[in-house]
Amino acid sequence: MKIKKVGVLGCGLMGSGIAEVAAAAGHEVVVREVSDELLEKGRGRIQRSLAKAVEKAKLDPEARDKTLGRIRGVIDLDELRDCDLVVEAIVENLEIKRKTFAALDETVKKSALFASNTSSLTITEIAMSTKRPDQVVGLHFFNPVPRMRLVEVVRTLMSSDESVERAAAFVRGLGKEPITCRDNSGFIVNRLLVPYLLDAIRAYEEGVGTLEEIDKGMQLGCGHPMGPFTLLDFVGLDTTYSIANIMFDEYREKRFAPPPLLKQMVQAGRLGKKAGRGFYEYGDR
Ligand code: 3HC
Repeated sequence: MKIKKVGVLGCGLMGSGIAEVAAAAGHEVVVREVSDELLEKGRGRIQRSLAKAVEKAKLDPEARDKTLGRIRGVIDLDELRDCDLVVEAIVENLEIKRKTFAALDETVKKSALFASNTSSLTITEIAMSTKRPDQVVGLHFFNPVPRMRLVEVVRTLMSSDESVERAAAFVRGLGKEPITCRDNSGFIVNRLLVPYLLDAIRAYEEGVGTLEEIDKGMQLGCGHPMGPFTLLDFVGLDTTYSIANIMFDEYREKRFAPPPLLKQMVQAGRLGKKAGRGFYEYGDR
């Protein structure tokens, strides 16, 4: 069963990116937020991202308009009832996600596939709030969604082969590469990336090098597009802190424990690029 109509829950950084790439691939997209203000913000983010692509001649203005025309913002969950796939990208809070999925389950047609873009909670605990756990998978996108080619397709003990294949086919249809992974907190990428980012903070705390030197080391020495501190600021220190805490709770291993400096920076509101200040300063934002 081919996925045509796509619902996206949440139009924040990830949700707006998912809505954009799904619409760009020709899907009719319904994106749900909890207020008109948040919908407006999300739409602005999509417009800026598409404008950037037009500026760089990666997209023509006609395709931009068609993409925008395929995205409809809604507040009422009921508007998602005839979607073939719903991708959730709301706040990383298990209780809120479980309540949302239970409500979705009551509302959306029985054949629909459900996916969560969670980066560290397990899909199993989310899927069990529905009566269709065989039709729930993880679809973990990477930031910035329009640019990053990978999507992790997460299979639980209950996910059916058909659900996993439908999800992977959807990802390929977006022009992205799926990898399948088991439902362990952090999946594949964050399991490796998060300890690396936390270790960079520890190295800095120990005085191994300056922020710039450590970043340059990984950029020029290993060919990473961004050094760890630029990436931390880009992902958001609050997001990284929350992912690390969830992974530490799950595995009880020191490599996932957030270092004190990360906690202090979050407490001080230095959340990274989006706050105008993280490890680095970003103009007057
Ligand atoms: N939407 C939003 N922002 C975009 C974008 C898009 N479509 N395309 C680029 N950007 C942003 C960049 O962050 C930067 O922002 P600014 O202009 O506002 O300062 C700017 O656009 C630069 O873009 P360029 O295209 O000029 O830069 P590059 O060609 O060098 O590519 C990059 C930018 C693709 C972000 C590249 O640096 C990169 O690949 N960085 C690593 C990103 C990464 O590792 N992402 C994974 C994070 S982990 C994750 O997402 C998992 C989660 O669970 C935490």
